[in-house]
Amino acid sequence: MTRLVAESLVKGYVNRRRAVPVLERVSLAVDEGEVLGVLGPSGCGKSTLLRVLAGLEPPDAGRVTLGGAPVRAGQPELALVTQQPHLLPWRTVRGNVEFGGLFTVRDRRELARRTAKVLAQVGLEEVADWRPASLSGGMAQRVALARALVRRPQVLLMDEPFSALDVTTRRALGAEVRRLAREDGVAVVLVTHDVEEALLLADRVVVLSPRPARVVLERCNDEPASLREAILAALGSGSSAPVGAVAGSGW
Ligand SMILES: Nc1ncnc2c1ncn2[C@@H]1O[C@H](COP(=O)(O)OP(=O)(O)OP(=O)(O)O)[C@@H](O)[C@H]1O
Ligand SMILES: [Mg+2]
Repeated sequence: MTRLVAESLVKGYVNRRRAVPVLERVSLAVDEGEVLGVLGPSGCGKSTLLRVLAGLEPPDAGRVTLGGAPVRAGQPELALVTQQPHLLPWRTVRGNVEFGGLFTVRDRRELARRTAKVLAQVGLEEVADWRPASLSGGMAQRVALARALVRRPQVLLMDEPFSALDVTTRRALGAEVRRLAREDGVAVVLVTHDVEEALLLADRVVVLSPRPARVVLERCNDEPASLREAILAALGSGSSAPVGAVAGSGW
């Protein structure tokens, strides 16, 4: 069983010779087939948390395990969709997506087949031969998502993957993420600023405090209405949207 577990993660940086604590004993777990939504104020440490979960940066204390073993950077079971797409400018859209599977899918024809499939999944078949400079921000985000999906990961870590998308594309890709969890058993960690996105897509939600990030709320998404109130309170917004309101949200 794929279970990604973070135990008491502590992480900090040194900026201009001053210690900046970012994660303060953050613990969480996500199971196979589950979507975990992670919310928190800007700059609290969400992207840092994802990099540590992906094994790209070591924590100062605590540990991350996948299926009981320490997580390793670049391991094929795990894919990270970063907040910025970071596409290779000299490669086409197809080339960028293939790059995601270059070191994990040995058979070139299989990689080409998978690439064609994920390009269709994210609605980018028509621009497969374009280079990143010609893409809109939303298109580039979808390339980054496709580049992660081509690996067929068991764990998908996503850092605000829908922030630049229009409502229709956002809904379609949101449904695709739910399907990946439900049908393929992928464990998903979805970082988002959008409470409605979290309510719609996540099975469970974690809210982080302002930096240094601590878990201030962890709840199952069984009662969306009361959870919305709880999330807003935990985020310290002070205001509560009327139940059912989706003002300002693309959902
Ligand atoms: N590589 C780094 N070196 C130094 N400081 C860093 C580094 N990465 C992040 N930080 C600092 O860590 C803190 C958390 O940054 P992070 O990007 O994780 O926040 P975030 O919650 O993802 O923010 P946002 O919602 O705006 O994306 C910030 O104060 C940031 O300046
Ligand atoms: Mg971030």
